[in-house]
Amino acid sequence: MIELKEVTFSYDNKQIISNLTLSIKKGAKVGIMGESGCGKSTLLRLMAGLYRADHGTISVDGESDPEKISRKVSVVMQSPMLLPLSIYDNITMGHNYSKEQLEKVIKMARLSSWVDTLPDGIQTYIGDRADELSGGQAQRIAIARAMCKDSEVLLLDEPASALDSENTKSVLDAIMEYAIDKTVVHVTHQLKHLEGYDRIYVLKDGVLI
Ligand SMILES: Nc1ncnc2c1ncn2[C@@H]1O[C@H](COP(=O)(O)OP(=O)(O)OP(=O)(O)O)[C@@H](O)[C@H]1O
Ligand SMILES: [Mg+2]
Repeated sequence: MIELKEVTFSYDNKQIISNLTLSIKKGAKVGIMGESGCGKSTLLRLMAGLYRADHGTISVDGESDPEKISRKVSVVMQSPMLLPLSIYDNITMGHNYSKEQLEKVIKMARLSSWVDTLPDGIQTYIGDRADELSGGQAQRIAIARAMCKDSEVLLLDEPASALDSENTKSVLDAIMEYAIDKTVVHVTHQLKHLEGYDRIYVLKDGVLI
């Protein structure tokens, strides 16, 4: 499902990923750990088609054009990007989803108890107030967005880093339930968040061990 062959990537002159080869089967759950700054987010961005490798090839579901890869994967970034729109628009990103699908993801991302307290609910405009959202609220919107897109591949970059322990457990459990047949790559500093995963790698010196 995800194939990286001898991938190298540098920012300016600083090499972050060095001749990295990785093969992830369809439906596999893979964790990636490693010390801060080792390149985990960079690797995830490469898998998401957001960066182009300097050398080597990356393919997702047989597709190797980064732009097409980005359409095939759902990503929860480490720092979620919110747009000056309503919560609804930030989740749907201009696509039409059924009411049932939307309700399902809002519930899975544990957004209901907060959204229900807002005067305009899911239609609340967060444009001018993006800074007023807590990190966990922004993160849960990003998770709902990724679940709505419903791709075969889910890439998670510390999706629960801003959540309290209770919400972390319930959101991560909901993600695993939702992603049972999907291919998941999950970057985290917390080994306990990778319980039940098929394989856990550590990124060190640009390669996975
Ligand atoms: N856009 C960029 N331009 C230049 N250097 C960058 C850029 N983004 C990241 N870096 C550098 O590349 C290295 C890897 O960054 P990356 O964000 O991939 O690390 P990480 O493993 O995700 O770290 P963390 O666990 O803190 O999130 C770091 O040294 C970082 O400073
Ligand atoms: Mg990171």
